[in-house]
Formats: sequence, C-alpha cells, structure tokens
Amino acid sequence: MPQEPGAQMASGYTVKVRAYAKVNLTLDVLGKRPDGYHELESIMQSIGLYDTLEFRSASDGIRLSCNHPEVPAGEDNLIHKAARALQESFGLAQGAEIRLEKAIPVAAGLAGGSADAAGTLIGLNALWGLHLSHRELAEVAAGLGSDVNFCLTGGTALAQGRGERVTVLPAAPNFWLVLLKPRFGVSTAEVYRGLDLKSVGDLRPDTVAMLNACVINDFNAIAGGLRNVLESVTLSRYPELSELKAALRRAGAAGVLMSGSGPTVFGIAPDEETAEEVAAALMGFKATCYVTRTHKKGVEMERS
Ligand code: C5P
Repeated sequence: MPQEPGAQMASGYTVKVRAYAKVNLTLDVLGKRPDGYHELESIMQSIGLYDTLEFRSASDGIRLSCNHPEVPAGEDNLIHKAARALQESFGLAQGAEIRLEKAIPVAAGLAGGSADAAGTLIGLNALWGLHLSHRELAEVAAGLGSDVNFCLTGGTALAQGRGERVTVLPAAPNFWLVLLKPRFGVSTAEVYRGLDLKSVGDLRPDTVAMLNACVINDFNAIAGGLRNVLESVTLSRYPELSELKAALRRAGAAGVLMSGSGPTVFGIAPDEETAEEVAAALMGFKATCYVTRTHKKGVEMERS
C-alpha cells in the first residue's frame, strides 16, 4: 500500500510502472510563438512499446540507474528532472532509487523521454503516498516537456498549444503498427529550427477529419489521413527515411508516416497478421523493426 504523506517509508517498498511510447497520427504547426516554441495541433496515439520504471523508497536523494548504455543516468535525464520538480513543487524531502529498463528507442520521435517523465510522476506519487490529482501532476508535467502531459494520460488525444494542452478522445482506434527506427537519432529542436511553414505544401493534415476517423475507428480514413509537417525538414535531411516509407508501403502497410520530429517511420495495418507480413518483408533494411498495436494508456502500474 502507498504510504501516507510524511510517513516513514518502509525500506524495500517498491512501485513498478510501464511508460508507453506514442506516435503522431497527424502533426500540424500553426505558427511560431513568442516564447520560441511552435503552436501545434497534433493527434497522438499511445502504442504498446514501453519502458519499465521501478521505484524504491530511499531516505533522501534521487538515484537513477539504467540498463541502456546510451541513456545518460545523470541529472539531465528527464526522470531526474521529474523527480526533482515533484520534490520542489510540493516541498518533499523523501528520496528514491529508480531503475529504468529502456525498450523505447532514444531520440526516435516516440516520446520515450517524456513517457519516462510521466511514469516517474505517477510512480513517485504512489511510492511517496502523495495522493496528488491528475491536474496537479499535469502542472508539473507541463514544465518538463511538451509531450509529458500527453504521456500522463495516453490513449488517443489531440495535443494543442506547445503540445501540453491535451484533449483525450472518448474512443481509441484499434490497429497495428510496424515501426522502423534507423540507427541515428535526431534533435527535435533542430528539426523545428529548420521548419519553413511556407514549404510544407500538402503535408498539412486535416485534423478534424482524422479526429472523426479515430473516434469511429475508420481504419481506411486513418491510413489515408496520416500527415506530419515536420517530414518537410527531416525527410529532406535524411533521404533514406523516404526509402523506408516507400519500403513500408511496398510491404503492404495501408498508410505510412514519420512520427514526431523523426527519425522513426511507421506503417499501419488492420490486424496482427498483416503487420507481421509487412515486418517480414522488411528484412535487410538498416533499421530496427518493431511490431506493436495501439494502446489505451500512457502509464500503467505493474503489480509485483
Ligand atoms: O518541449 P520539448 O523539450 O519536448 O521540446 C524540445 C524542443 O523542440 C524545444 O526546445 C523546441 O526547440 C522544439 N519545440 C518547439 N515547439 C513545440 C515543441 C517543441 O519549437 N511545440
């Protein structure tokens, strides 16, 4: 059971959460904001690929360890920042040891870091017995990164503003995805810096049509409506991504798109069998392939 606020933590008490990745089914940029960020309109979808975070109570300090050599476990990690933001916002003295098992690829456009931050807020809320409401956690989340609020809730949602204003859809579509993550990562900030809104052409999505398609689970309309204006930057810098998209299409994906600022591209399929056939036809490409499906949550507690 979670501890009461301020209570002495029993040593050995642990909380385990799964933090799920997302893809963008649409991503539109409406303009540049005075704060340097961009005004977004994006439909985000949680997918079944997840990191696992385990939290163990400690008398003070935040200590993070990770199974993945490329993930920095220092103070710059968003998990650290989320834990500190929670401590500072609510004047907490409790500490935690956090173990991250990383499965979501890094710098991939799948919100792996944001998912971990959201998982940390939910995990520590339980470990420390804080009983903070979703709204209170969302306020902390918004200060950590544009996608963290979406990851707190997950499922299918429209993200607006910097990305932090999230409206969850009443129903979530149900389909399979084949993801291709090339060996390199990209910097989101650099992609946004390279964006020229005058040259996005027909990459602009019809967001309202996609919202409707998601709500009624119209697979063909979802496949036909996938658009991301950031492709205008990332695909021109990395032409191999266009080749990966073409390969996904040839392999039988019904619709294909780059997620977020990239470089992961994904294709969608109506069922697992078709998704596995698409993945099998993609052997030999210089990219890691994942087969997964839409998921209804951003963070889930694991019973241990
Ligand atoms: O908020 P987050 O840390 O995920 O954003 C990373 C970078 O992406 C920002 O520093 C900014 O350069 C860019 N960005 C943006 N407009 C947004 C979201 C992100 O320009 N709405």
